Amino acid sequence: MASTRREAVEEHDGAKQVTRRGFLRWVSGIGAAVSAAVVGFPAIRAFVSPVLAAPPLDNWVKVADDIALLDVGVPVRVNFVQSTVDAWLESRTLNGVWLFTEDGEKFKAYNGHCTHLGCAYIYDKDHKNFLCPCHHGQFDVTTGRVLAGPPPRPLDELEVQVRDSAVFVKYRDFRLGIAEKVEA
Ligand code: FES
Repeated sequence: MASTRREAVEEHDGAKQVTRRGFLRWVSGIGAAVSAAVVGFPAIRAFVSPVLAAPPLDNWVKVADDIALLDVGVPVRVNFVQSTVDAWLESRTLNGVWLFTEDGEKFKAYNGHCTHLGCAYIYDKDHKNFLCPCHHGQFDVTTGRVLAGPPPRPLDELEVQVRDSAVFVKYRDFRLGIAEKVEA
């Protein structure tokens, strides 16, 4: 009779131990899962965020609010800041385009970088062409073709759209110093 009672007590203690052990295992499992999430999330984010944060393919930039305010026959340079996110780093770049119209209806836009080595070129009012101060490259305003100097190809023309009197340019950069127009 005494031995039966002892067995019953041992069985009860054993069940208690199993329950306590199970509980501890459950708690440590939860802890491990939380730790993995805390450590792993930034690592996963570093791989995933560049894809999620990639700039949209249609990189349209508004460069003029009203076509009526743009001079005909005189190019105007428009600068704008673009943000790019690489993993957790956000960088801002100052870009620019030259906008030109001969009739106030159809517009041309050129990437603001010289096709030689990427310097910012200016409009030479006296000669009515574009002039790159770095190596004296010159370009025709109406076509973008090279008039003088080392640039290996014409200025990089960009797509333009007029929407409700505002002018938008699809901004792109291209590889410098080569004869072909290849997106960078
Ligand atoms: S960078 Fe423009 S001519 Fe060289």
